[in-house]
Amino acid sequence: MTELLRTSGDTTVPDTVGHERRGGADVTGVEPLLDVKDLQVTFSPRRKMFRERVELRAVDGVSFQLFPGETVGLVGESGCGKSTTARGLMRLVEPSGGSVTLGGQELLGLPAGKMRKARKDIQMVFQDPYSSLDPSMLVLDSIAEPIDVHLDLDRAQTVERVGELLQRVGLPPEYMYRYPHEFSGGQRQRITIARAIAADPRILVLDEAVSALDVSTQNQVIGLLEDLSRDADLTYLFIAHDLSVVRHISDRVAVMYLGQIVEHGDVDRVFDAPAHPYTEALLSAVPLPSPKLQRSRERIVLAGDPPDPSRVPPGCRFHTRCKYVMDVCRTVVPLPTPTVGSGEVACHLHTSGPQLAGRSVRELATPHAVVAG
Ligand SMILES: Nc1ncnc2c1ncn2[C@@H]1O[C@H](COP(=O)(O)OP(=O)(O)OP(=O)(O)O)[C@@H](O)[C@H]1O
Ligand code: SF4
Ligand SMILES: [Mg+2]
Repeated sequence: MTELLRTSGDTTVPDTVGHERRGGADVTGVEPLLDVKDLQVTFSPRRKMFRERVELRAVDGVSFQLFPGETVGLVGESGCGKSTTARGLMRLVEPSGGSVTLGGQELLGLPAGKMRKARKDIQMVFQDPYSSLDPSMLVLDSIAEPIDVHLDLDRAQTVERVGELLQRVGLPPEYMYRYPHEFSGGQRQRITIARAIAADPRILVLDEAVSALDVSTQNQVIGLLEDLSRDADLTYLFIAHDLSVVRHISDRVAVMYLGQIVEHGDVDRVFDAPAHPYTEALLSAVPLPSPKLQRSRERIVLAGDPPDPSRVPPGCRFHTRCKYVMDVCRTVVPLPTPTVGSGEVACHLHTSGPQLAGRSVRELATPHAVVAG
């Protein structure tokens, strides 16, 4: 069984989104490639009206693991902290606490030079292929940047490698002598993927990498990512709004709300039997393939916007919007519970009240019929 949940400050959050594991490895003895523990990223923005600084815990005790070759999806509403988690673990923003080990090496606290070297193994692809390529640079020079930093190749070898990389992402090698404005959105995203894999990383963090593309281009780029993961043995952290895409590509999924992971598990378990009311509500917005099923399913509308992350509600952070809310939820942080099948959930329904004990929250027929445990 996974180590369960960890208490972080005044909150209790899932300790680890990982395979069934013993110590640092899963039951098959495989060590995680990336091990994120209790990651904290805090911002201190100024409030507009009064100009005083507030503390905003954008990532508040996030833990998960990536095992070699798998894809973990990270989902949640806008502003829940997905990008900040990604940027924090890569130290593109400096975390205020926690631990991130990559292949056994602790990244937090690494001096800048060593951190630059470590980034060879973990690269990021962003949503916007227009802004992530320098318009004044030839594709050749954009893709060559990580090669120059991380690999010891001369110019001729670099040009040859860039040609191979372009072919690998489905583009003719001669495109290296063109500028970004000469390409469509899908082609530009292929070029950013070529650049991301240029120095042979082990992990790609894909932050809404296909979100800006039309559906057919999206499908092509997802196909490319699947091929790359198989052929180049890549491991993905896949961040996306589109839950159908996440289901398609991910092996496991973690659901974030207000800076924390509230549920995680194998992707089919989470999508077919969500254990957290927030997951259930998120999933109810995903269209079903059959119109009959679609008509018969309840659409759960999440009331209001997520609370201001600088004013996190006490108890369960989701209690202000949860249709199953009980008295206990308003004051007590929910303890973690293993879910039936795989993963964990942090919700009182599983430990008090109706005692779901890890089963799907869909088994609760009548919201509000529940009582405080
Ligand atoms: N540089 C920053 N300074 C202050 N606050 C920030 C900064 N970056 C992010 N935030 C805040 O941190 C929280 C998490 O933001 P983040 O961008 O990680 O969310 P997200 O889940 O990626 O959202 P989206 O789905 O819209 O991309 C938000 O409240 C956001 O306003
Ligand atoms: S039932 Fe309570 S603990 Fe569970 S998500 Fe709703 S408010 Fe949170
Ligand atoms: Mg984001």
